[in-house]
Amino acid sequence: MTDTASAPRVPKRVAAVILNSLKGGVVPRIGLPYITVGREVEIRALLTDLALIADGDASFRFLVGRYGAGKSFLLQTIRTHAMGENFVVADADLSPERRLQGGQGQGLATYRELIRNLSTKTRPEGGALTLVLDRWVAATGDDATGEDTLAAQMAPLEELVHGFDFTRMLRRYRAASLEGDDETKSCVIKWLRGEYRTKSEARTELGTTTIITDDDWYDYIKLFAQFLVGAGYKGLLVLIDELVNLFKIPNTVTRQYNYEKILTMYNDTLQGKAHHLGVIMGGTPQSIEDRRRGVFSYEALRSRLTQGRFAREDMRDMLAPIINLHPLTHEELLVLIEKLQQIHAGYFGYEPRLTEQNLVDFLKIEFGRVGADTHLTPREVIRDFIELLDIAYQNPKLTVDDLLREVGGSAVTDRDPNGGEGTGASALGAPAPTVGTSVAPGSPARDAAAFAEFTL
Ligand SMILES: Nc1ncnc2c1ncn2[C@@H]1O[C@H](COP(=O)(O)OP(=O)(O)O)[C@@H](O)[C@H]1O
Ligand SMILES: [Mg+2]
Repeated sequence: MTDTASAPRVPKRVAAVILNSLKGGVVPRIGLPYITVGREVEIRALLTDLALIADGDASFRFLVGRYGAGKSFLLQTIRTHAMGENFVVADADLSPERRLQGGQGQGLATYRELIRNLSTKTRPEGGALTLVLDRWVAATGDDATGEDTLAAQMAPLEELVHGFDFTRMLRRYRAASLEGDDETKSCVIKWLRGEYRTKSEARTELGTTTIITDDDWYDYIKLFAQFLVGAGYKGLLVLIDELVNLFKIPNTVTRQYNYEKILTMYNDTLQGKAHHLGVIMGGTPQSIEDRRRGVFSYEALRSRLTQGRFAREDMRDMLAPIINLHPLTHEELLVLIEKLQQIHAGYFGYEPRLTEQNLVDFLKIEFGRVGADTHLTPREVIRDFIELLDIAYQNPKLTVDDLLREVGGSAVTDRDPNGGEGTGASALGAPAPTVGTSVAPGSPARDAAAFAEFTL
């Protein structure tokens, strides 16, 4: 186990984000390295992909795991890492309004979200499109060599589908920048963001009749990936989470169109039709493997993606496109809660009270709960643990045994199948109940509600 002395000090601001996010059941946007446990193999595989992308190849992976297994966490980890390595990243969660393809612009909506979330090392919270373009304009220069550089940069783009439209817009942006024409610049930005709804609108404002649409947005992702290299980045990493939303599409034909899009992306990466581009999609086993509605209902994908006869539980093939995430083991969770106790203690400035044996007991209690085998995910364990730390901190007179009994006690209310809000709801991806609501009235945890938000 980590000992307190050698553990890295977590800055307060980061500690607050970590504790708040985990208590709310979401993956923290920052500070992941302080809490990451396990996943060495998976991370190594994805880092290998990044190296390929930097070299001009493309990669495509599915991250598959149950709710709470750690898909979003891993996506976020890779995202952070990629930004640090000078990649541009774009992420989007699918939803009923955001798909890969759809009659009402649901594909384009995903594209827009991706571009809105475009992030770099210096703009990790998204909205980096303008920054990227300006950096490119500055790097290209405005003299005669600038023109040559420009021509050399645009040439490979022009060979791609929609390359002429895309490069025309880039040239427009550059010219407008050099002339200080902010209006044209913002029209080009609007165009690149896929925000023109009609061709006539684009014609009026930009004199072009092409716009980015539901059917061709992915071509523009490929163009962006290639362009970004000219702008000084290593490539583009696209992260798409919540694939289950495709599984949930009621209409068979619509669903198949969406899977067809995945097939296109997947084939592109294998056939060398995409460059400097990585795509990672996160989904539950069902959303991938279900033969009626999942990705595997699309035979062309199923035949390409199913594992060969050789891969086994204990002998995984990390070159295969599907990476299966096992839920964190008890040992990994133990390391994690140990780290969380240290972060909590560091944040509030107290000496950690729970011994390793206490932590083991906590996990035993959690996993001993009714329905734990089917419903309990790391998300709930982590949330419960932070709640325990909060209670312990606010009630210094309570003994550790009292505290652990508290965990066991709230288990009864929390896991009551008739109790409405409980693990069942969380396990289905619903937002975690607000802190403190699951604790019986009169218990010391009542104050925890007020405590849930630290000032950042
Ligand atoms: N490798 C890990 N190390 C530390 N915490 C993790 C790890 N993987 C997941 N978690 C935490 O577990 C919880 C569930 O993970 P999440 O990524 O949201 O699961 P999923 O997206 O698969 O439903 C989150 O609170 C997350 O921060
Ligand atoms: Mg998730």
